[in-house]
Amino acid sequence: MPTALITGATAGIGAAFARRLSADGFDLILLARDAERLARAAKEYGNAEVVVADLATEEGIARAEEAARRADLVINNAGFGHKGRFLDVPIEDELTMLRVHCEAVLRLTHAALPAMRDRGRGGVINVASVAAFFPRGTYGASKAWVVSFSQGVAQDVPGVHVMALCPGFVHTEFHERARMDMSGVPSPFWLDADEVVAGALRDFRRGLAVSVPGAQYKALVGLGRLLPRNLTARFSGRAGRKYR
Ligand SMILES: NC(=O)c1ccc[n+]([C@@H]2O[C@H](COP(=O)([O-])OP(=O)(O)OC[C@H]3O[C@@H](n4cnc5c(N)ncnc54)[C@H](OP(=O)(O)O)[C@@H]3O)[C@@H](O)[C@H]2O)c1
Repeated sequence: MPTALITGATAGIGAAFARRLSADGFDLILLARDAERLARAAKEYGNAEVVVADLATEEGIARAEEAARRADLVINNAGFGHKGRFLDVPIEDELTMLRVHCEAVLRLTHAALPAMRDRGRGGVINVASVAAFFPRGTYGASKAWVVSFSQGVAQDVPGVHVMALCPGFVHTEFHERARMDMSGVPSPFWLDADEVVAGALRDFRRGLAVSVPGAQYKALVGLGRLLPRNLTARFSGRAGRKYR
């Protein structure tokens, strides 16, 4: 049976990947920081393997790399947001974000690909965001890195598929954890995590390098690509301030 490693598997989009991949017959390796929650999730999926690891630490990334080497599919999904404008966020927290969103994604992809290339099958899905296409703070910049990195690696390693997944607003714990007030987001802009995952896996099977779930976000990203960057930056800065 193929094995899937999912980082951030206990909540939101990661939990939706776990549900779906378990139903599809994958053996799961679930990774997050909260050991109790991981143990509960593991039971749900017939005693899945768990890796308790903080991807903001060297030790946590090293533990995750070991699991990635054994996986046929790696879902680099763990991530978080910050509330506030750039100078409101302590620099340590910005660096933690880069470590989880960029360094961990880089190192887990690098750890996983050689065995996948040798087997001639396998893949990596890196969870980015629609924010990758609209400059705003470290979050958007880190997700832009994920998209660019995934597109580049996809060209470099034949036989293995690498895809960036770019969701818009999804109902998860993400905004509550960052204490963002999301009451102003119109309901058509909210996506369901299970639907995001179903769309992502469809796009992955079709060989897409970048997946943007939902017609409304496909249109928004298409528009964002046509407009000059200074205009999209102004737009996303103004829109983003509503959710702080
Ligand atoms: N929700 C959205 O609107 C949205 C939109 C676009 C992109 N995304 C992206 O989607 C991904 C998943 O977010 P979500 O919305 O599903 O968030 P979520 O519901 O808050 O879940 C986050 C998951 O990541 C784990 N995690 C957080 N920090 C970690 C760390 N340092 N080390 C290991 N695990 C960690 C959490 O478990 P522990 O706390 O136990 O570690 C949890 O399992 C993120 O990369 C996010 O940027 C989300």
